[in-house]
Amino acid sequence: MRLQGSTKTAAAIAVACCSVGVHAAGADEWRSRSIYQLLTDRFARTDGSTTAECNTEDALYCGGTYSGLIKKLDYIQDMGFSAVWISPPVKNLEGTTAYGEAFHGYWQQDIYSLNPHFGTPDELRELSDELHDRGMYLMVDIVVNHMAWPGPADSVDYDDFYPFNSDSYYHSFCDITNYDDQDMVEDCWLGDSNVELVDVKTEDENIQQMYNEWIAEFVANYTIDGLRIDTVKHVEKDFFPDFLDAAGIFATGEVFDGDPQYVCDYQNYMDSVLNYPIWYPLTAAFQSTSGSISDLVSTLDLIKDTDTCGDPTLLCTFAENHDVARFASLTSDLSLAKNILAFVLLSDGIPIVYAGQEQHYAGDEDPDNREAVWLSGYNTEAPLYKMTATLNAVRNLAVTSNSSYLEYRNWIVYSDESVLAMRKGYDGIGQVVTVLNNQGEDGGEYDLSIGQTGWEEGTSILEVLGCVQATAGSEGMVTVAMAGGEPKVYFAEDSLRGSGICGR
Ligand SMILES: *[C@@H]1O[C@H](CO)[C@@H](O)[C@H](O)[C@H]1NC(C)=O
Ligand SMILES: *[C@@H]1O[C@H](CO)[C@@H](O)[C@H](O)[C@H]1NC(C)=O
Repeated sequence: MRLQGSTKTAAAIAVACCSVGVHAAGADEWRSRSIYQLLTDRFARTDGSTTAECNTEDALYCGGTYSGLIKKLDYIQDMGFSAVWISPPVKNLEGTTAYGEAFHGYWQQDIYSLNPHFGTPDELRELSDELHDRGMYLMVDIVVNHMAWPGPADSVDYDDFYPFNSDSYYHSFCDITNYDDQDMVEDCWLGDSNVELVDVKTEDENIQQMYNEWIAEFVANYTIDGLRIDTVKHVEKDFFPDFLDAAGIFATGEVFDGDPQYVCDYQNYMDSVLNYPIWYPLTAAFQSTSGSISDLVSTLDLIKDTDTCGDPTLLCTFAENHDVARFASLTSDLSLAKNILAFVLLSDGIPIVYAGQEQHYAGDEDPDNREAVWLSGYNTEAPLYKMTATLNAVRNLAVTSNSSYLEYRNWIVYSDESVLAMRKGYDGIGQVVTVLNNQGEDGGEYDLSIGQTGWEEGTSILEVLGCVQATAGSEGMVTVAMAGGEPKVYFAEDSLRGSGICGR
């Protein structure tokens, strides 16, 4: 059963707030959004430098700030994104550990103060205002599962934490040794003796109340539109409904697991989860020319089934983030990178692109995948930057043509060993047909006929990545000119008028 509580609260808050022009964003407002994820420390510096050194291996602060980010919002918005997800802004442990500094923000100690490395409270508010002036949303990353301590469990000084400043607020120490034991996953500690993640007793009613008060105030203080919640599978599910009621806004949770049943069960407790179940077969399918398209198709079908996921169109789809190796670390093939990017932006759900993906950054696992974006010079001519802009524009156009696009469940109209063609949107004007493949840059030239596209015979359609015109044949048959492993994206030409896409 879906819980509607948080949506109702969002509406109530929107009414209460309307006098000051604030509008709390719930699931329906978020469904149409496209999210750009960044680590504040690694995106833009106040001095606007594009040369300041940032050695990912050192895992130290590199100097990114809210003020720097504000000055680079054009770079993000010009790619068509309508929301920005920032790394956790609250105060973290200071100093250097065996894993470097807390530049990523996931080592919190005081949730009522901000991390001074990124700027002042006023600067975070200014970021929020700037985003709202542009019609964009602010998504903030939060952690409720733990506080962080730079040392072994028996050395924790609980006085350093706020507001949970005594050992009575925490589970006693134990390591998670068996991930199949859900109680252990929820009650034992993440981390190790270099940095322990001290596990908050989130099942305690008093603590829940403290958390609920905090999140209401936190969301209001910075006019936050959405939350990304860290380490959700380490917190008991019942914690979330009341917490998100108090927050009054959309939330997507990190449940780092590939099992659709296990992950989607959390959608009964929050609007959305990150789509890790698709990330595994998606990456496997496109990371090499021998990846399995059929495994991807079967997982897509499973997720689309309402028995598995309450609402697959609210899952957040991604190919990269700060916790996994970047796609380009698995293959340098640009055509494969284009295909996975097209999947992220045009399949079901809310797309998330991780800063640097548009520059084809190739960092391996943490900490290599946390490169400074400024070192790219914010190149707006980069092929994946331009492609992201086009595909976000197409998605936005599909949504405005007919918002039922968003709730349409992606339909696989064709697949073979190396090709996956999917259709999203109802017959005619606002629908998109995306033809993906894992043939790579060396992929051959041939014509492929794709049926069931939904277009009437004679409809003029445009392949928007190459700006090539085509016409739907009988029963909506489209002939796709496959070449060099490039993805192809089709949209009705009439509906493109005035969009600027391909000069239309
Ligand atoms: C919200 O702002 C008020 C006033 O500046 C401050 O006292 C309070 O601690 C803040 N709360 C949070 C959760 O940031
Ligand atoms: C949008 O699509 C739905 C589903 O096909 C249809 O019922 C509705 O009439 C469409 N709306 C517009 C404005 O075309």
